[in-house]
Amino acid sequence: MAIRICPSILNADHSRLKDEITAVATADLLHLDVMDNIFVPNQTFSITECREIIQFSTLPVDTHLMIIDPDVKAVLYAQAGSASVTFHLEASAEPLETIKQLRAAGTRVGVAIKPNTPFENVLHLLPEIDMLLIMTVEPGFGGQKFMHDQLPKIEEARRGISLLNEKLPWLQVDGGLTIETIALAARAGADTFVAGSAIYRAENPAQAIRTLRELASQ
Ligand code: DX5
Ligand code: ZN
Repeated sequence: MAIRICPSILNADHSRLKDEITAVATADLLHLDVMDNIFVPNQTFSITECREIIQFSTLPVDTHLMIIDPDVKAVLYAQAGSASVTFHLEASAEPLETIKQLRAAGTRVGVAIKPNTPFENVLHLLPEIDMLLIMTVEPGFGGQKFMHDQLPKIEEARRGISLLNEKLPWLQVDGGLTIETIALAARAGADTFVAGSAIYRAENPAQAIRTLRELASQ
């Protein structure tokens, strides 16, 4: 199974963001966390900042929207040049419509679920999406502890995905992934891994990416 490592720039040093983005060029996707201080109690990049980051990044940008109203706003992040846009199921009244809009805008489509949202809520969307994101912390902040109680949900999602007969969506995990926890998530069936502090708090981000990749591949 192909493994993808997605550094999250949420906890990178924003005063030297270009250097921080360049430092992770050996990863697969750049993970961009967008928060509106409503869906989660934290606020991050504006759409203008997102556009600049997307233009600067040599990696495809994996935008993770933690905002209310994705049914209206998600498409803006596709138009801004994201390679993929992931929105939260909990924030969407019309997920199928939003998926359709994102697809029409030419981006890959992801749907995310928070720790308290059961996998079965997203089951009907699996054939329509390119990636399912299972949050392994409560969304909002980097540097939190991996929630081990999400491992059965990752296993359940892997089983559900393997029953599909056409294209299989990627299974992404986000939150608390470190050299201690990434192998657990990989063994449970994840193939796409977001890591913020494990990469940006490491002395050598490129080495951290290599180590995480090795641990996830075993
Ligand atoms: C949290 C964000 C994550 C965050 C992960 O809500 O969605 O992408 O940056 O950070 P770590 O890897 O430090 O848990
Ligand atoms: Zn994220």
